[in-house]
Amino acid sequence: MDLKNSIDKNNLPKHVAIIMDGNGRWAKKQGKLRIFGHNGGVKSVRDTVEGAAEIGIKYLTMYAFSTENWNRPKLEVDALMALLVSSLKDELTTLNKNNIKLNSIGDTSKLPLRVQKNLASVIDQTKNNSRMTLTLALNYGSKSEILTAVKSIASKAKNNELNIDDITESLFSENLYTSNMPDVDLLIRTSGETRISNFLLWQIAYAELIFIEKLWPDFRKDDLFEAILNYQNKERRFGKTSEQLNP
Ligand code: IPE
Ligand code: IPE
Ligand code: MG
Repeated sequence: MDLKNSIDKNNLPKHVAIIMDGNGRWAKKQGKLRIFGHNGGVKSVRDTVEGAAEIGIKYLTMYAFSTENWNRPKLEVDALMALLVSSLKDELTTLNKNNIKLNSIGDTSKLPLRVQKNLASVIDQTKNNSRMTLTLALNYGSKSEILTAVKSIASKAKNNELNIDDITESLFSENLYTSNMPDVDLLIRTSGETRISNFLLWQIAYAELIFIEKLWPDFRKDDLFEAILNYQNKERRFGKTSEQLNP
């Protein structure tokens, strides 16, 4: 079956988010060091980004490094940061060729300077691209994102720049890292784990969640297409009844 051509282009998720998980286990299965798995995951990122752009996904957000991931051994954190730098350098041409804009969410000011520099440079050099926005979640944590928004709103209210009644869902959304993006329609997590791990808590309020057994380095665009077909078979009721949706 041709998965790609089975996808209904009129019912695409606007925003797909992915928790890329299982790199370490993938490496361990082969008797290799965890970092071998992270290296292997780069190919999956490339293939998935390409696949998402091909079918017309507008926003793809990938969880690359969480606020909790700093607690890993220093050797692994350093290797992940080095991998980020080399991947950013390697992918710039492809991003521009495919008309993809790079964006990031999370507190990037805490990343090593060389990561910050390369990230800012690729973001700047792809800023006019319009086919798809690829967002990397780097030093991202949803609870901290929400707290930052609360603090900023609270301080405006305290200074009388804002009335309490002006604090709406849309105002709150505008104070998140994802301010210029629609909410997530489809969240995919690989490696069989069925948890959210502090990712986009507000933005996934009504997302469809799809958990895939494959480990991230084995994930390819066909797995994305399969997840999207699966998404298209779901009835998104948003609180209504099935009869209301299909009169
Ligand atoms: C996901 O794979 C990549 C990152 C979190 C950076 P893991 O490194 O979490 O791999 P497992 O879950 O230990 O197998
Ligand atoms: C979530 O994966 C973070 C990323 C994919 C970057 P983890 O492997 O860190 O999540 P937990 O610790 O298993 O929940
Ligand atoms: Mg993991």
